[in-house]
Order: sequence, then structure tokens, then C-alpha cells
Amino acid sequence: MAQQRNRQFRRFYDRLAPFYDWSMALGAWLRGFDDRRERLKMIRELHLQPGNRVLEVSVGTGSNLPLMVGEVGKAGRLVGLDLSPGMLVQCRRKLRRLHIKADLVEGEASRLPFADGTFDAVLHFGGINEFDERERAILEMVRVAKPGARVVIADEGIDPAQKKRLRNRLIRANPLYTREPPMNLLPPGLNDARLRYFRAGNCYLIDFTTPG
Ligand SMILES: C[S@@+](CC[C@H](N)C(=O)[O-])C[C@H]1O[C@@H](n2cnc3c(N)ncnc32)[C@H](O)[C@@H]1O
Repeated sequence: MAQQRNRQFRRFYDRLAPFYDWSMALGAWLRGFDDRRERLKMIRELHLQPGNRVLEVSVGTGSNLPLMVGEVGKAGRLVGLDLSPGMLVQCRRKLRRLHIKADLVEGEASRLPFADGTFDAVLHFGGINEFDERERAILEMVRVAKPGARVVIADEGIDPAQKKRLRNRLIRANPLYTREPPMNLLPPGLNDARLRYFRAGNCYLIDFTTPG
């Protein structure tokens, strides 16, 4: 079942890949916010330092990588994983155009091909609402993070304080926006787990520090 769903998503994102960045820019413009500035809000919560190893799960076309590369510096390492080869093709093009070095891996969020405790920071934005195995994906992000690492998980969701706004009532027709932020799926023992909203109150942002 999960495999079948993944095949569907792979096909969907492979087709969307050439237009994905345009669709994100258009969505941000229609809602009146700056896509880059909102991405920086997630990245700030990773508390990146020079030399850090960072994993982005579901890296897509790689729009967050250019915003992290300066933070980790030459001694750091960026790794991006995604289910869709088409999205990774676009990502590779972007990296080449911007002269950015990152390792890209085709794979699934719920079966990360990395050893325990590999990364200083793990970022995920934009896929988890659709995952079949949301809890397993979160456990995987925690597993591959070092003790004391920062993890940020974000996706579509309406800020409860803004639910009555007409625009948000319309957006809720899209089932992706009706998913609850997966706070109840976080494993016990995490430090400082917080839930906030960004992207004009249309996305949740969960951040925490792994134990240790
Ligand atoms: C909305 S895009 C987000 C891309 C990127 N993180 C960004 O900031 O723009 C969602 C991404 O999740 C990927 N994805 C979907 N299901 C996945 C899975 N099970 N494992 C890994 N990636 C997945 C898709 O291929 C797609 O690139």
C-alpha cells in the first residue's frame, strides 16, 4: 500500500518538477509573502554552525540548499534526499547553476539510508502531510540526527487563530490543509518541541532538539 502511494507521488512530482519553483513563487505571491524570507524562518531554527552536516528530507528542487550553504561553510556538508528523480534533476540543475556542492540521494523518508546519529541538523518541508508512514518518517529523522541535533518539520496547515478568515476557509477545501500538525507523533524525550505557523498562517513549523 505504502509502495503504491509512493509510486503515485513519484509520478506526480516527476511531472510537476519543471514547474514546481514557479508554482511555489506564484503561491507565495498570491498569499502576499516572500518565499525566500519564509524559508529562512525554518532554516534559522536549525541553528546551523560552520562544519555542520545537514540532511534535507524531501529536498525537492533544492530551494533551501542555497540558503544553508553559507551557514555550514566549506567544512560543512549538505545532503538532500527525495523520492522523485524528476525533482532531483531540477535540484541538480539549480546546484550547478549556483555552484553549490551537495550530495543528492534518491530514497524514501520512512527508510533513510543513513547511519544513526549522522547529522547535526535535519530539515523537512512540504511532504509529510502526504506520507503514508508519517510517524515512521519522523522516527527516521530523529534516528539519523546526532544527540542534541536540531530538527525542523514543516508542511501545510492553517493557523487555528486564522481559521475564520475567508481565504483560509476556501483553502481548507484542499484536504492537505486539514491535516493536524503531527505533534502527537513525536517520540517522547525530545527537548523544546514547539509548534508555530508561518507562510501567512498556511503552514505549521515544528522544531525540537534531539535528546542527549
Ligand atoms: C512540496 S515538495 C517540497 C520540496 C522542498 N522540500 C521545498 O522546500 O520546496 C514535496 C517533496 O516531497 C517528496 N516526497 C514525497 N513523498 C516522499 C517520500 N515518501 N519520501 C521522500 N520524499 C518524498 C516529493 O518528491 C517532493 O519533492
